[in-house]
Amino acid sequence: MCAKPLKKEPRQVETTGHSWDGIQEYDNPMPRWWVWVFYATIIWGIGYTIAYPAWPLIHEATPGLLGASTRADVEVEIAAVDKANAAIKDKLVAADLNAIGADPELAGYAERAGAAVFRTNCAQCHGSGAAGVVGKGYPNLLDDDWLWGGTMEDIHTTVTHGIRNTTDADARYSEMPKFGTDGILDETQIAQVAEHVLAISGQEHDAALAAEGATVFADNCAACHMEDGKGDRTQGAPNLTDAIWLYGGSREKIIETVTKARFGVMPNWNQRLSEDEIRAVSYYVHSRGGGE
Ligand code: HEC
Ligand code: HEC
Repeated sequence: MCAKPLKKEPRQVETTGHSWDGIQEYDNPMPRWWVWVFYATIIWGIGYTIAYPAWPLIHEATPGLLGASTRADVEVEIAAVDKANAAIKDKLVAADLNAIGADPELAGYAERAGAAVFRTNCAQCHGSGAAGVVGKGYPNLLDDDWLWGGTMEDIHTTVTHGIRNTTDADARYSEMPKFGTDGILDETQIAQVAEHVLAISGQEHDAALAAEGATVFADNCAACHMEDGKGDRTQGAPNLTDAIWLYGGSREKIIETVTKARFGVMPNWNQRLSEDEIRAVSYYVHSRGGGE
C-alpha cells in the first residue's frame, strides 16, 4: 500500500493577543529575506558614515576615511579649467586690443569669458540683456551711445580705472557744477536753459524761453556739452540732443540735473578682476554695443 502523504496540518500560529472589533492578528515572524535586507542597510549605513563625511561636529562634519570632499573636487576642476585656459589667457593679455576681433579663437574666448564676467560683475548696475533695462544713472552698455567713448581702448580704460571713484587715481573724472544749489544760475536762467535742452533734443518746448536759454547754454554749458549740445567724451559730458538719457529728459528732470548736478560713480575693476577678465569683458561690451 502506498499511502498518500498526509497533508500537513496548518501550523498553529499564536495570535498577538490583541483583538480589534473581533479581528485578531497572527504573530508571524518577519520574512527571512526582509530581516537580512534590514541588517544589511544598517551595516551599509554605518560603513558609509565611516567612509564619507557624515556626523556634524561643532565646526565641521567628521571627514570620513576616504577623504571625499565635493569642495576639493570643484577646486580640482577649476584648477584644470584654469590650466586649460592659461595659454589663451596669456594670449589675450598680450594681444593688441584692436586685434582681438581678428583672431577667431581669441575672439570666441573673449566673448564667452566676457559674457560671464559681465553677468557676475556688471549686470546689477548695467542691466543684463539686450533689452538693456537699466536704472537711472546707469548707462546701457549694449547700445552705441557712449559717454566716455566706445573704442576698445576707451572701454578698456573705463573698466580698468572706473569713473569718479576715490580708489583709483586714474579714474575718469569730471564734475558738472551744481548750478542751482551753488547759486551760479537763478531759477529763471535754469528754466530757460532747460527749455533750450528740450529744444535741441527735439522735444516740445516754449520757443521764446528756449531762445533765452541758448545764451545761458553758450555761456555755462557749452564748455562741456559743446556748442551744439552733442557732448564731449573727453569729459564724459553726455550728448543732450539724442533721446537717450541717463537721468531723464523731461523738463522736470533736466531742471533737477542742472540745479543739483549729477555725479555718476563706477568702481575701478583693476583690483577685482584680472587683466584677462577686464579685456574679455571690454571685448564683450565692445562687440555688443556698437563698438567703435
Ligand atoms: C556699482 C554700479 C556699477 C557696476 C557694478 C558697474 N558699473 Fe559701469 N558704470 C556705472 C555708472 C554709474 C556709469 C556712468 C558713470 C558716468 O555717469 O559717467 C558707468 C559707466 C560705464 C562705462 C562707460 C559707458 C560710456 O558710455 O562711456 C563702461 C564701459 C562701463 N561702465 C563698464 C562696466 C563694466 C564692464 C562693468 C563690470 C565689470 C561695470 N561697468 C560695472 C556703474 C557701474
Ligand atoms: C564741467 C562740465 C559740465 C558743465 C559746465 C555742464 N555739464 Fe551737464 N553734465 C556734465 C557731465 C560730466 C554730466 C554727466 C554726469 C554723470 O554722468 O553723472 C552731465 C550731465 C548733464 C545732464 C544729464 C544728461 C542725461 O543724460 O540725463 C544734463 C541735462 C546736463 N548735464 C545739462 C547741462 C546744462 C544745461 C548745463 C549748463 C547750465 C551743463 N550741463 C553744464 C558736465 C557738465
